[in-house]
Amino acid sequence: MPRKIILDCDPGHDDAVAMLLAHGNPDIELVGVTTVMGNQTIDKVTRNALSVARVAGITGVPFARGAVRPLVREVETAESIHGDSGLDGPVLPEPEIELDPRPAAQFIVDTVMASEPGEITLVPTGALTNIALAARLEPRIVERVREVVLMGGGAHVGNWSAVAEFNIVIDPEAAAIVFGASWSVTMIGLDVTHQALATPEVIAAIEAVGTGPARFVRELMDFFAHSYKDAQGFDHPPVHDPVAVAYVIDPTLVRTVRAPIAIELSGAQTLGMTVVDLRAPAGPEVTTQAAFDLDADRFWALVVDALVRIGDPA
Ligand code: BDR
Ligand code: CA
Repeated sequence: MPRKIILDCDPGHDDAVAMLLAHGNPDIELVGVTTVMGNQTIDKVTRNALSVARVAGITGVPFARGAVRPLVREVETAESIHGDSGLDGPVLPEPEIELDPRPAAQFIVDTVMASEPGEITLVPTGALTNIALAARLEPRIVERVREVVLMGGGAHVGNWSAVAEFNIVIDPEAAAIVFGASWSVTMIGLDVTHQALATPEVIAAIEAVGTGPARFVRELMDFFAHSYKDAQGFDHPPVHDPVAVAYVIDPTLVRTVRAPIAIELSGAQTLGMTVVDLRAPAGPEVTTQAAFDLDADRFWALVVDALVRIGDPA
């Protein structure tokens, strides 16, 4: 049985790849895509999500627009990484599908409450605002979802400050709600995603697929490579978000360590840090885990395989 996921995202170059991987992998059933402000404003990332759906040939999957701003703080976008559109590089086709009328948090609540216990996995690859709002709107979803597998944070590394990662630091209060709830949370953080590098070999393998969606990814990666080089000095860009989807497909792609994870909400230098207590042993009450050590070859093979399966949508 394929794993049913709701992808909660802010496309975003790597979010777009996450969407393609989820759509093209036979072990995943995409039951909804929700958007959240982050890489760009909510209007821009929502439009981008719908454009990517058209590129990928995603039909019959509800798309719902989510939070306009973080729970407490002002909007902060990642234009230096994702450009003015949030998805700079390729030409973005006009969206063809209509948005679900519900706000993302309501869509998440409705979908989870209508599912069997343990049926739905939430995969957030942006700020955790929608997920926190959904958990506040209907706390019973915490018992009902199978697990939360999120891209964000890191045990030993930051990217938006010395110690904090973008998705967490732009809405740390939302992150505190999500990490503090009793559901199972897997943190696919920078320790892992900085190993998911789009090297020239990876780009060649994607290009060799020879389809429209593969060319789209190639064009995304061209832009991403330049911005990551300029803004953060990376020789090859880290493609964070699809690693969370890949973990749902195959958890053996990473090593996980069960540990308490707290979100720093008040540090003068450390706001948004995911504080991972790696002192063993973690007690039985601990439901959070952090991921390390990506098998990058197998990860990229999944991405390429998804592109092959997607082919050239009509
Ligand atoms: C995360 O921040 C966003 O810019 C990316 O899409 C990814 O989800 C990496 O820190
Ligand atoms: Ca993202």
